[in-house]
Amino acid sequence: MFSKRLNIEYEPNELSLLYNLKKRNGERILDLTISNPTKLNFRYDSKHIIKHFIDERSLVYEPDPKGMNNAREEVVKYYSEYSKKVSTDDLFLVPSTSEAYSYLFKLLLDADDEVMMPQPSYPLFEYLTKLDLGNVIYYPLIYDYRDGWVPDFNILEKKITTKTKAIVIINPNNPTGSYIRECDYKKFVALSEKYNAALIVDEVFSDYEIEAGENTLKTVTGYDSNLTFVLNGFSKMLALPQMKFGWILIQGNKKLKEEAIQRLEVIADTYLSVATPIQYAAGKLFETRAKIQEEILGRINSNYKLLKTKFLLNPDIKVMNSEGGWNAILNFENLLVKDDEFVLKLLDNKNVLIHPGYYYDFFTEGFGVISLLTETDVMEKAIELISE
Ligand SMILES: Cc1ncc(COP(=O)(O)O)c(C=O)c1O
Repeated sequence: MFSKRLNIEYEPNELSLLYNLKKRNGERILDLTISNPTKLNFRYDSKHIIKHFIDERSLVYEPDPKGMNNAREEVVKYYSEYSKKVSTDDLFLVPSTSEAYSYLFKLLLDADDEVMMPQPSYPLFEYLTKLDLGNVIYYPLIYDYRDGWVPDFNILEKKITTKTKAIVIINPNNPTGSYIRECDYKKFVALSEKYNAALIVDEVFSDYEIEAGENTLKTVTGYDSNLTFVLNGFSKMLALPQMKFGWILIQGNKKLKEEAIQRLEVIADTYLSVATPIQYAAGKLFETRAKIQEEILGRINSNYKLLKTKFLLNPDIKVMNSEGGWNAILNFENLLVKDDEFVLKLLDNKNVLIHPGYYYDFFTEGFGVISLLTETDVMEKAIELISE
């Protein structure tokens, strides 16, 4: 009866079974996997946030497929802080970046067309592509001790086909934390022209710089290209995923851009998904950006430094460099154990939960992923236990 697009296994894995058992037994787990910022004791400017949703103008429905102009103007102001000039005409509001992908896959893909995604990356993208009947083809990010995580263009070009309709760049990538270098972005632009595939650049973590390498781009906004869609939104930028406000910025070759906008208007008009209250509140919510980002960056940086210092001289576990974003990567390849064995033991013996690297499709065993949003006291205790 059901569509084949969701033929996946629903069996819980060993790690979640063990976690649930421990929780049922009332054990305290030091959970280093939480990335929901609203559950981690950040001080939101709650009064300021809430009061702007009480606006009588919200009682009138004025649908616009691109989203309300006043809200798009606020997005334009955000880019002007990076000295980037964008036009409200080139913006579409969406409830989240996840939905932005869905709009773009409807715009670009027929069934069984392909989308290239970085590997490792966040598991969500495979689902998003399959739900819109596309296939994910991964291109590797390889770790270079001088340049950090960089795309392997040789493999990417071997895998690209006439069915490839989009190449996704995550800037900075989740979980590797790597920003795109300018020289690599130019290569992506050239490939997009050569193979007639659009670029989708997901910049949801771009404001969260830890220590970006030289010549990396915080945003690709304003760069010349064939056809590029830049994605961002409040989910990470303001740490407010529940408010459901994001956007697609379209740039590139004039003719392609115009056609993309016309077609996206039809898609967006079919759903009209963005709620009116958030569009009126958007400008006021942008005002909370500096404060919440300062607080989050403070915690991210102190957790990252703590991890780096603690494992500096550890022969078995290394903390890889993160240029930005909300995660850190533990490399325990030297221990020659599988991801599952390492994380299960950690949970079983020490009540510390981290994500195994294979959740994010690392190529080899020996990696674990930790949320840098973790509360500092939890992180401190967990690091002691991991490094014992
Ligand atoms: C790189 C990246 N893009 C997009 C998303 C989804 O964000 P949103 O809440 O805007 O759908 C995530 C989720 O964590 C992510 O890691």
